This record gives sequence, structure tokens and C-alpha cells, in this order.
Amino acid sequence: MLTELITKRFLKHHARLLAFLDAAEAFARQMATSAEPQKDFESSRELVKEFLGFMAVEETQHEKEEEHVLLPVLAQQLDEAEPNPPKMSMGRMCLEHAVGQRLVKELGHQLVQLEQGEGAVKHEQYYFFSEALHDVVWHFRRHMSLENSIILPAAERLIPDSRDELWAKSNPKPECPDA
Ligand SMILES: [Fe+2]
Ligand SMILES: [Fe+2]
Repeated sequence: MLTELITKRFLKHHARLLAFLDAAEAFARQMATSAEPQKDFESSRELVKEFLGFMAVEETQHEKEEEHVLLPVLAQQLDEAEPNPPKMSMGRMCLEHAVGQRLVKELGHQLVQLEQGEGAVKHEQYYFFSEALHDVVWHFRRHMSLENSIILPAAERLIPDSRDELWAKSNPKPECPDA
């Protein structure tokens, strides 16, 4: 069933992302207030790299599935059913994917800055890094909240089982522009 796939696959990914966000937020908060940010950075550098790897591969793939499969199928159902808030949320979801990618890119850039400047890194560079990490964390928290509270429930409510086939061999036009 499509709804089962959504529950198992999308929610499972969201739970994994949330675990990363929790860890990243604790790290960002620690760094922002630390007297010795370099030590904190060293202790959690691998975590940030793992997080960036997850965002580059698994989150990118997840967003593709949302944009190429879930949203087009849901959009068809909304056209047939009712003009309603999920439709507006879908537009926001596309914009947020683009913003999220930019924020993750900025975080990667800040990480490179810190690693290349090792030995002579200024205190404020650690602060910029922790700000970039905070931006990513809060953006994706809000984004997941939108999907979990509006998009996925709407999909479960509106997409009938007959759409399973469409899901399986779907190649519809992506719902997000330039997706
Ligand atoms: Fe998303
Ligand atoms: Fe998602």
C-alpha cells in the first residue's frame, strides 16, 4: 500500500534525520557558548561530517522521492478533491527543499573554512560555523513538522490504494520547479 510505504519509508527517514538534528543542535549550542570552541569542534567534527554525508546522499534522495512521486500523486488527488491547505503547503515544501540545500551547502563551506584554517582559526569562525549549523537544524525541524503534520496525513487520507501502481512505476512530472 502506498500509505504504508509513506509511513514506513518517509517517517523512518524523518526519524533518522531528527536524531541527527538533535545531536547537531546540542553540538552547535555547545560551540556557540564555549570558551574553547576548537576543542569542541575537534570532538564532534566527525559527527558533522557524517551529518553532511547523510544530507548529501539520503536527504537528497528522500527529497527527490517527495518531489517526483509523492507530490505529483498528491497534487492529482487534490485537483480531483478539494482546493485546500495541503496544496499551499506543497508549494512551501518545494521552496524549503531549495532553501535547505543552500543552508547545507553553507554549512559545508563553513566546515572547510575551519579545517583549512587550522592552527590560526579565529574565535568568530567557530561562531559562524555554529550559526550555520543552527540554521540547518531549525530549517529542517520546521520542514519536517510541515510534512509530518500536513503533507503525509493528507497523502494517507487522500491517496487511494489504486495509486500503488503509479507509485511503483511512477515517472510523473516533478511537482517542484527545477526539481
Ligand atoms: Fe522534504
Ligand atoms: Fe521529508
